[in-house]
Parts: sequence; C-alpha cells; structure tokens
Amino acid sequence: MSAKAQQPADLLVAKAADRTALIGVVGLGYVGLPLALEFVRAGYRVVGFDVKSATVEALNQGRSHIQDVPVQSLAAAVRAGTFAATSDLSRLKEPDVISICVPTPLSKTKDPDVSYVLAATNSVKQTLRRGQLVVLESTTYPGTTRELMLPALESTGLNVGKDFFLAFSPERVDPGNPAWNTRNTPKVVGGITPECLRVAVAIYQPAIERLVAVSSTEAAELVKILENTFRSVNIGLVNEMAIVCDKLGVDVWEVIDAAATKPFGFMKFTPGPGVGGHCIPLDPHYLAWKMRTLNYRTRFIELAGEINAEMPEYWVGCVVDRLNEQGRAARGSRLLVVGVAYKKDIDDVRESPALDVIRLLQRRGAAVSYHDPHVPRLKDEDIDLASLPLTSESLAAADCVIIVTDHSDVDYALVERCARQVVDTRNALAAVRRRREEP
Ligand SMILES: NC(=O)c1ccc[n+]([C@@H]2O[C@H](COP(=O)([O-])OP(=O)(O)OC[C@H]3O[C@@H](n4cnc5c(N)ncnc54)[C@H](O)[C@@H]3O)[C@@H](O)[C@H]2O)c1
Repeated sequence: MSAKAQQPADLLVAKAADRTALIGVVGLGYVGLPLALEFVRAGYRVVGFDVKSATVEALNQGRSHIQDVPVQSLAAAVRAGTFAATSDLSRLKEPDVISICVPTPLSKTKDPDVSYVLAATNSVKQTLRRGQLVVLESTTYPGTTRELMLPALESTGLNVGKDFFLAFSPERVDPGNPAWNTRNTPKVVGGITPECLRVAVAIYQPAIERLVAVSSTEAAELVKILENTFRSVNIGLVNEMAIVCDKLGVDVWEVIDAAATKPFGFMKFTPGPGVGGHCIPLDPHYLAWKMRTLNYRTRFIELAGEINAEMPEYWVGCVVDRLNEQGRAARGSRLLVVGVAYKKDIDDVRESPALDVIRLLQRRGAAVSYHDPHVPRLKDEDIDLASLPLTSESLAAADCVIIVTDHSDVDYALVERCARQVVDTRNALAAVRRRREEP
C-alpha cells in the first residue's frame, strides 16, 4: 500500500472498493434495517446496533420486524455471518462506518426532539477512533450535523475531514412501495468537508444505484425536508380542493383525474383522511422550528399542516351527515373503519389519521370497530381494538363504514354490496364501480 493509501480517507475508499470496510448501522427500524441489508447485499459485513434488546434478539434469530425486509434475506445474512445485531454500544469502535438511523420525533409542543440523535452521537463519541466515517440518516433540521454532532465528535480531539469523517445522507425509503426501495432510490449525500463527501460516496456507492452529491450537510438536510414539505403542501392543497368540491357539489376525483391528463405542469396528488407516518406530518415542523429561531414564519408549512390535521374532523362530519340521513345520531351508532395503517399496504399506524377518526367518533358516543388486514391489533393510548373480519355480516351490522386506508387486499366489492352507508375517504370504491360499468 502506498503512503497516500495510509491516510484515513484513502484507506476507507480502498476498504469500500474491496468491501473490507465494516459497516455499523445504529437504529434498526424502518430505515436502518433495510439499509443494513443493502450494505450486506453489496458485499459488506454489517453490525447493527439497537437499544431495544428484544429487536436485537429477534434479528439475530433471523426474524424481521420490518415488512419490507423479507425474513429469507435477513436469515441468510445472519447465517452467513454478514449481519449481526447488538445492543452493546461500546462495540461502536469496531465499524469503519457508522450510519445513524434513530428516530427524530416531535415533542408535545411540536418542537424537534433530537434527543435520540444526541444519545446516538454521544455513544459514537465514547469510542470514536481515527479512520471512522459517521453518517446521519435521520431526518432533521438544517444545521443538526454541523451544530450538534460535529462539536461533540471533535471534543475527542480528533479532526473532521482528516482523522474522522462526518456526512448527512437522508433516507428516502417509502415503506410498502414495490418499485422503489433503498437500493434503487437515488441517495443524496453532503459532507462536512469535501473529504467527508468523497469517503461517504465511496462507501455508499456499492450499495446504492445512484448517489447525488451536494455541497454541504445543510443542503442535504434541506433536500429531505423540501421533499416532504412538497408532499405536505400538495396534499394540503388537494384536501382543501376536496372540501371545495364537496361544497360545490362537484366530484373532486373527476376533477383531479381530468387535470392529471395535462402532460406538463401538473402533478397528481390525491385527497384523503389526512397525513400519517413519521415523515410528512413531522418533518416540515423541523424546518418551521429552525426558521422560527431566525424570526421567519414558514407559512406554507403551517397552512398545509393545519388543513391536513383537520381532515379527520371533516370526514367525521361526513359520517355524522350520513347517519343523520338515516335518522340516526352518532351516539349509540355502530361504525366500522376499514384500514387503520397510515397508508396502503403497510402495517405502520404511527400518526395514522385513522387514530384521530376513531377517537373523534368514540368521543361522539359511537361504538367503533375496525378491519385492517395488516394490523391485527390497534393499541394507541386510549384505543385498544382488535381487527374484525370483513364479512357481509360485519359490514351489514355497521350503520356506516368509513374507508380510511385503501389497502389493496380488501374486498371493496363486498364493502359496496353489503355496507348500508360508506364514507370513502380514498375513492377506493371507484375501481369497483368502473369494473361494474365495463361492457
Ligand atoms: N419510516 C420511514 O418511512 C422513514 C423514511 C425516511 C426517513 N425516515 C427517518 O429516519 C429516521 C428513523 O426512522 P425509522 O422510521 O426507521 O424509526 P424506527 O422507530 O422504526 O427505528 C428507529 C430505531 O432506533 C432505535 N434507537 C433509538 N435510539 C437509539 C440509540 N440511541 N442507539 C441505538 N438505537 C436506537 C430504536 O430502538 C428503533 O429500533 C427518522 O429520522 C425518520 O424521520 C423514516
């Protein structure tokens, strides 16, 4: 090896080329586990770190808790010794690369809660050594990597860009999406220094089909927030359009589908019960908070957030109207919610608008049950329900059925046939009607 190749940056680039770099992934959830297995697929050996010992134990037995990570590929990696999980964070000194994929939730007052990022950074700091690359993947406000992580890591006496490397690379995984996954979704990377960027790109290149380098960690942090703010604002717009159309007596779906025939300058978004998951309802607030510290109010973010958050109330109003048409009150009515995950074909109920819909209906005195093929049990604070089978009896027993999530494996023809009243927040019955009208 030449003298140049002895430098930490060149050594890491060389270890990427021959895959001898040991990769550490901190936080083995929806983001960390698929990423870990992409590194394995690329030929690296991976150690996964998680503070939940039950998660670690299950993973080491080849059991995946993430729907998008097939048990077979996890089990094969565990058997081959290319993936192992641990909750022993002192082992963070072993990997050459540490990807941090811990949660970034909001506090009760909707301020960023970076406590998980700080805790993970602190663990990395305890054992930071020359030649390590640290990459933050968690979605966060611009400045987190440089303002929070860098000072902590440099307090060890090691210098960024020379002794160790620090980058931000936002995860874009879309759970349940059969076409786009961690590997084939282009990945944005920004480094604290050009050397940090060079090393991070070299390490990720074998695992990810296309890397998009940007000039700073702040730019990379903002890319992710722009993407999710873009979605939040556009969903807010079509949600408002749904209310507008309702008041005008126009079918919003017909309007959107016709608008979407324009081959340029229009992008189709669809209305629904609100937004859920740990990205769209949360991420824009990270930027809004950061901008408040600079005395700037991000009005688009606030407005879209308000409209999206009010959608459950709007749909509950529609349910009450339907009950009224039958001469019934909400109090004492029997209601069936179809789909409680925050979006179709996944089992994640975090921030799901279905939770708000159920609570709002229960508060009005209705007896609410639900069916979701992906969520056998729904537990969230005061809600504790089990999924009912979707049968002609369970449908007919409900005074109104509310379709909140349009999972693919639900028999919507049965819903249409057997339900007395349906409030369809996703236009899921349209396909049934189209099929019926086909010659
Ligand atoms: N879920 C998504 O679809 C998605 C998509 C893109 C980006 N993100 C972002 O990625 C980040 C992670 O999200 P997620 O959905 O994977 O979260 P998750 O809750 O599914 O997983 C996070 C894991 O980190 C572990 N953890 C927490 N603190 C830790 C610590 N100090 N050390 C080690 N492990 C720790 C938790 O036990 C958990 O298993 C968040 O910032 C999120 O906003 C999520």
